[in-house]
Order: sequence, then structure tokens, then C-alpha cells
Amino acid sequence: MNETAAYYKNKIAVVTGGASGIGLALTETMLSYGAEKVVLGDYNDESLIRETARLNAGFPGKVLGCHCDVTQESAVRHLMQSAVEFGGGRIDFLFNNAGAAFAGSFDELTNENWEKAFALNFYGALYGIRAVLPVMRSQGSGHIINTISGIAFFPMAYQSMYSATKAALNGLSLALRYELWDENIRLTSATPGTTITGIWEAGGVEPPPGAQSAEQSAHTILAGSAKNERLVLGDEGDLSGAKQCFNPDEAKGIDDILLNIARKRRSGEGVF
Ligand SMILES: NC(=O)c1ccc[n+]([C@@H]2O[C@H](COP(=O)([O-])OP(=O)(O)OC[C@H]3O[C@@H](n4cnc5c(N)ncnc54)[C@H](O)[C@@H]3O)[C@@H](O)[C@H]2O)c1
Repeated sequence: MNETAAYYKNKIAVVTGGASGIGLALTETMLSYGAEKVVLGDYNDESLIRETARLNAGFPGKVLGCHCDVTQESAVRHLMQSAVEFGGGRIDFLFNNAGAAFAGSFDELTNENWEKAFALNFYGALYGIRAVLPVMRSQGSGHIINTISGIAFFPMAYQSMYSATKAALNGLSLALRYELWDENIRLTSATPGTTITGIWEAGGVEPPPGAQSAEQSAHTILAGSAKNERLVLGDEGDLSGAKQCFNPDEAKGIDDILLNIARKRRSGEGVF
């Protein structure tokens, strides 16, 4: 067994947004590594029921599907309680993966739009962290993996909400990583890389050429997290975005690229 698989073997995990895309691939991959139990939290009951049944057919008794809207703190607390009961008292991993790629022209966005974006992409994860910490503290270990996006390092026009929510989540993850380090609770920020999932269809666009599968993304996230990486970068694009984002020597080039994207989107090309 390799180092990555060993990290998840016999462990209990909770995955929010686990009924599709990257969350589902994280779940299936951990099960293939010998994870003891995985709890899927999702608000899409149709996918949740279907995928929980399918996974339990392959891994009998190992998967619990729990209806959970992560924007509701009480629902997230309930998800963790259900996971504790299902997992025999433990939660080793929490993947705060539920999220959406909110888009739109800043001028047209209302405060309500902003609140909804933060409720899902930021507060959903914050509630997850709050709810799981007592469990991880009592067992003396745990690992929380927050799914951000390459957009946190490459903030594109007409995706101000997506950029801001994922950058905020990254800040929370990385600050907390050091606050909790000495309690043996690990925090990782992970970008999935450009990945073929329903998120593109929901945004009304095709995944760009070269986009990877959800399985590839899950492998990268699980391997990086197993090494306790601070930041897992899901593909080459995210790696170069992260390297260049805060590098003053690259500022002019990055401005040119981002301005070009903004102008193209304004003219209706490749609008998210
Ligand atoms: N696919 C990509 O290219 C890409 C790139 C960067 C980051 N991401 C991030 O990866 C994560 C997973 O996205 P995905 O690409 O697998 O998309 P997806 O749409 O396939 O999966 C998102 C899941 O989250 C669930 N969800 C949405 N709102 C919820 C809520 N309020 N409560 C509970 N569950 C909710 C959905 O039902 C769905 O199952 C997201 O955080 C997304 O921002 C994806």
C-alpha cells in the first residue's frame, strides 16, 4: 500500500457536496484506499440517494448520505453528529468541498447575491470547522481540507464573488492551520484544478479543453493532503497562478492577462 492510501485506510471522513463531482470522486477514492466510513453531506437529495446506494453496493455499510444544506449552521452540526454516530465516535477528515462558481457583472450583483455566495463558499466551511473541532480535539487529531479554487490566486473579472469567497476561505484555512497545529489538527487548502464536473454546466459554459477528470483531481488532493501540504494545487495552471499572483516581478504580465480576460468577457466571449 502506498503512502497516500495508508493515510486514509480505516479512517472516517465527512465530505460536503459529496453527491457529485470532486466530492464524489474524493469519496470513491478514499473507499478504494480502505477508508472505514464516509459520510456524504449534500443538499441535492436525488444525487445523494442515488450515489449513496451505488457506493454502498460496492462498499457495503460504509457510506451514509445525509441531507445537509451547508449554508445552515444547524444542518452542518447535525451532519457532524450523524457522522460521529455512524463512525463510532470519530471524524478523522472533513472535506469542506461544497461550493459553486458564482459569476456576474459587479454592477448587477446585489448584497443578497453576495450573502448567498459567502454563505455557501465561506460560511459553509466555517460552520463545518466549528462543528468538527470538538470531535477532533477530543480524539487528539484530525485533518480539515478546504476546497478553494485557482481563482483565489487568479481573480478574474465577472467572477468577483467566486474570487472573493475562495480567497477568504484560503485565508481562513491557512491562518487556522497554525492556530491548530500544536493540537495535532491539520488544515489544508486545496485547489482542484480545472475539472470536468457539473459546476460548468451550472454556469452555462463548457469545461475548457484539457480539463481533467474528477478522479484525477481527487487523487491530487488526497495525495497532497496525505503529505500535510499547506496548499495543494490541482493542476499546472493553478501552480503557475499561485507562483505569480504575489510576485511583483510578474505583476505587469498578470495585469495584461487578466485585463485581456476581462475585455473578452465584456464582449461576450467565454463569459462564465
Ligand atoms: N470543477 C472545477 O473546475 C473546480 C475548480 C476549482 C474549484 N472547484 C471547487 O470544487 C468544489 C466541488 O465542485 P465540483 O466541481 O465538484 O462541482 P459540483 O457542482 O459537481 O459539486 C458541488 C456539490 O456541492 C453540492 N452543494 C451545492 N450547494 C450546497 C449546499 N448549500 N449544501 C450542500 N451541498 C451543496 C451540490 O449539490 C454538488 O453535489 C467546489 O467548492 C468548487 O468551487 C471546482
